[in-house]
Amino acid sequence: MDRRSFLTNMSAATVASIAGAVTLSAKADALEEAMSVELDKRIVTPSFCHIEPTPEAVAGDTRPYYQHEDPRIPKMPAAPTLIDFYKLRFAPANHVLQSARLARNNGMDEKIIMACLLHDICVSNFIRTDHGYWCAQMVKPYVDEEVSWAIEAHQALRFFPDTEVGYEYPDAYIRFFGADYVPEPYIVEAHASARKHRWYMTSRLITLNDLYSFEEGVVVEIDDFTDIIGRNFRQPKEGLGFDGSPVAHMWRSMIWPNNFL
Ligand SMILES: [Fe+2]
Ligand SMILES: [Fe+2]
Repeated sequence: MDRRSFLTNMSAATVASIAGAVTLSAKADALEEAMSVELDKRIVTPSFCHIEPTPEAVAGDTRPYYQHEDPRIPKMPAAPTLIDFYKLRFAPANHVLQSARLARNNGMDEKIIMACLLHDICVSNFIRTDHGYWCAQMVKPYVDEEVSWAIEAHQALRFFPDTEVGYEYPDAYIRFFGADYVPEPYIVEAHASARKHRWYMTSRLITLNDLYSFEEGVVVEIDDFTDIIGRNFRQPKEGLGFDGSPVAHMWRSMIWPNNFL
């Protein structure tokens, strides 16, 4: 570590801990401790993929980068299934699980339940921005075309009310983005074309089940959906990430989210 740049960029807390040490040797210990904490923080997490919450650093592991082996996150099987991803990468995945549960309780078709289960899986593990498009692309080779279409369209539909079916603009968006937020033209266009599509209601149902699936304390297990996944998701025998599909790299990126290269 470059001591000079570390010393000039020390946080206020570090400065205070060093200043608070009484003896010279205690000051040296405080400095050592601060540098070690700083080194742990240097283990790179690419800005594209990220794991929530950020895993704790491993004490004493001074590697600045990880490549195909990150001791902070669970190891995945050689041929991972979708359920493995829910358990080892997406967990707790409460929002998508609650959303699928709601769809099932509302007596929805299995395609809708499957779409609800998958609609946001990339958000906390891979990428947030334009997440409807990313999620749809990730699952497209493995689900019915209607399911991936609906997942993609939910990106736009969520910004537009449909009072006929009881979908209102989410209050949360007013808090998040301000009352004067206007979606970008590509979202406006995507909504307009989705409205005319024969699968519009499939996607609209994702947004309806979406809205009420942020309940605190409601825990749903992925195992409750094993049958629905079995019937509606074509699990590749080589495992997700290793089947040579055009999206295999996306799944690998979630298996090894912190690879340096
Ligand atoms: Fe979403
Ligand atoms: Fe959602």
